[in-house]
Amino acid sequence: YLNHVGDAYDENGEEVQQVECVMATNIPNEMDQVEDSHICVVMVGLPARGKSLIAQKIVRYLRWLSVNAKSFNVGSYRRADTPHPSAAFFDTSNPEGERLRRAAAEAAVTDMLRWFEHEGGHVGILDATNSTQYRRKWIKERCDAKGYDVLFVESKCDDEDLIMSNILEVKTTSPDYIGQDPEEAARDFRDRIRNYEKVYQTLTEPDLTYVKLINVGSQVVINQVSNYLQTRIIYFTMNLHITPRSIWLSRHGESEYNVLGMIGGDASISPRGLAYADALPGLVRDSIGDKDVTLWTSTMKRTIQTARHLPYRKKQWKALDELDAGVCDGLTYEEIEKKYPEDFRARDDDKYNYRYQGGESYRDVVIRLEPIIMEMERGENIMIVTHQAILRCIYAYFMNIPQDQSPWMEIPLHTVIKLTPRAYGTVEERFKANIPAVSTFRAKYTSANMGGEEGLEDMTDESNMMSPPPTGAEINGIVKPDDVESFVPQKHPDPMVPVLL
Ligand code: ATP
Ligand code: F6P
Repeated sequence: YLNHVGDAYDENGEEVQQVECVMATNIPNEMDQVEDSHICVVMVGLPARGKSLIAQKIVRYLRWLSVNAKSFNVGSYRRADTPHPSAAFFDTSNPEGERLRRAAAEAAVTDMLRWFEHEGGHVGILDATNSTQYRRKWIKERCDAKGYDVLFVESKCDDEDLIMSNILEVKTTSPDYIGQDPEEAARDFRDRIRNYEKVYQTLTEPDLTYVKLINVGSQVVINQVSNYLQTRIIYFTMNLHITPRSIWLSRHGESEYNVLGMIGGDASISPRGLAYADALPGLVRDSIGDKDVTLWTSTMKRTIQTARHLPYRKKQWKALDELDAGVCDGLTYEEIEKKYPEDFRARDDDKYNYRYQGGESYRDVVIRLEPIIMEMERGENIMIVTHQAILRCIYAYFMNIPQDQSPWMEIPLHTVIKLTPRAYGTVEERFKANIPAVSTFRAKYTSANMGGEEGLEDMTDESNMMSPPPTGAEINGIVKPDDVESFVPQKHPDPMVPVLL
């Protein structure tokens, strides 16, 4: 990590001398730090530099890790009074514009401080340009007065083509320009940027804690970091990229244990599972094409067997092994209900937090998957062949599914799920093989798997591709800043939990 950021240069290619790079290496009690943390993450940068996208991704990542995080987008507050401003509104010589922009920032900061104080917030993100030293000093003073830490995250980008494509991709469809001609909207947005450029000051304040991401993280400057949660956030932002890519997810083919209704184990795949392994290269051929794909499996026989005909670079991860069912490994759900009735009930009451005796909970799985998610953020095209519980956790990360729902999601056998991250959303497609398999899904407060079989439909090539699910905050993964999220993760009763950070 330190090597990765050690060679820091500023935007003129000069080695950074004035900034001291301090990383926390010896934190006595990380857990306490997270529980007691109040961090205001202040985004910094000119318009169309991906600030909102980065803010939303930090929120999604932290919530997945059970940290109460929320983004406060100043643009949404400004829109209440000035829904369709022209570029002139953002000219600092326009006193009315200045007054209204200051009021919007004031309202957002006030709401964020209230959220920390009254709603158990841990990481609040102030999503605005915050592009002058004066504005940053003011925010810092407001947070200092309450004893909250402040981490500035700047996105600096001088790639004109990228900025133009950002404007066309997300700005011309912004609510600011509703009903306007996209070309005119793009022109106005460029003028807006020019107005910001007149006063923009990149982060250089020596006493502030910050990370500066230059040209989508191709250079990173870090200053004065002293707190564990801040290092997690910084490390996460350093791994983000915007190269278009997709992720293909599949469970292993039906296993011998699946056929018998038994959980866990390290069984081989059944004859129908073998048929799925044979069909898998054809099932993904069209959507993968000649893309460079890395294939990840768990270390268990059933995923390795399923992936064996796929012609991609392969890597096995222990972290992708199925949730450990402890003393219940090798039992059917009916047997568990008979042998461990209290456990069986407790698991259904709170499936995310229930930990099998001698085994794991979904929460434990998320902790061990964190490095996998980090690798996935850093990587490009990846196909993963793994297990039901693991896929639920990975899917929940990308699609922003709350913890009370994620362990109950149906992830059928013999189906490939393709996820394509986009600005403010993840597009989902499903490809179903025409190979039957048992259903391993058990509904809440029932003791047997849902009868029947999956994958029976006779799919033609064209009908193979199911349309993406409806868009919306829960499904789409990343929400537009205008749809301010309402989901706040539950606080976990187990005090050990924050150790994951
Ligand atoms: P504004 O100040 O107008 O709210 P913003 O900086 O918040 O703008 P976004 O709305 O997040 O910008 O812009 C999203 C676009 O930026 C997407 O097209 C995304 O691909 C792109 N993007 C994401 N990260 C970066 C980055 N680090 N540098 C430049 N562009 C990025
Ligand atoms: O144009 C960029 C933008 O996101 C506006 O929508 C919003 O009003 C503004 O930035 C918030 O930043 P500032 O605090 O500089 O006004």
